[in-house]
Amino acid sequence: MNRPADIRIPAPELPFRRRLHRSLLKWYRREGRELPWRENDDAYAIMVSEFMLQQTQVARVREHLPRWLERFPSIRVLATASRRDVILAWSGMGYNRRALHLLAAAQVINREYGGDIPDDPALLQKLPGFGPYTAHAVACFGFRRRLAMVDVNIRRVLSRVCGDMETVNLMLPEREAWELAAALLPQRAFYDWNQALMDLGALVCTARRPRCGDCPLSTLCASAHRLQDTTDRSHATDRSHASDPVHVGMVREVPRRIYRGRLIEFLRGRRGHCAPADVAHLHLFGTGN
Ligand code: ADE
Repeated sequence: MNRPADIRIPAPELPFRRRLHRSLLKWYRREGRELPWRENDDAYAIMVSEFMLQQTQVARVREHLPRWLERFPSIRVLATASRRDVILAWSGMGYNRRALHLLAAAQVINREYGGDIPDDPALLQKLPGFGPYTAHAVACFGFRRRLAMVDVNIRRVLSRVCGDMETVNLMLPEREAWELAAALLPQRAFYDWNQALMDLGALVCTARRPRCGDCPLSTLCASAHRLQDTTDRSHATDRSHASDPVHVGMVREVPRRIYRGRLIEFLRGRRGHCAPADVAHLHLFGTGN
């Protein structure tokens, strides 16, 4: 197939996006987890929860967060705490460096922003301990800014739904996952959409054993037909292939050359739902290889 190197691949078009939104949001209203940082308007509580969630299980953060907020109820209180007190309050969460980053971020916010957390992801990302995910999560969940985000769950879900992943351990490269997340973000229900993608990844579209039969997106998902098959097989092979890197939970990225072809195929297969290649603002994939 002869394609110009800079071909623009259209993002999934509006009718398809709408079906995705409707199905996932309906599921989320029924099955979404009730978590203390959801529907919480305190950007500081959101920021603390996102730091905790970077490397700690949801169940543990759920327990720990109220205690932390009692001990350090605001940026100002946290900014004036000692490193020792902060590490003590963090205990049980692991990876103490995050606590020190949180303290350092609170000090910068106190000094440079008068104690008000900025709502701009570009400013947030300059603070200690913030990467792109945390910056977007704090801006979206703390300030209702319409922003996409990609954590490991979202990356896996979007890779599978749009990218025709052949096995459970394949995902789109990070940059493409961000572009896809931005292209799929609903106009209005972006807050719930982002939370719902995380829940779907945590509860249904799990890393090793996706439950495609229970998935609200299975009829729209480019990978469901493959993963449903491999799910059962992966039960049987998980242990017998323990030394095989493909079977020990290692995530491999789909080689650009391959997923790009698949994505084109996928989008073509949904011609009725896809714009022609004139969706210039959605330049999903860069030029060259
Ligand atoms: N992991 C990171 N952020 C999260 C959130 N807001 N909800 C659930 N899991 C998360």
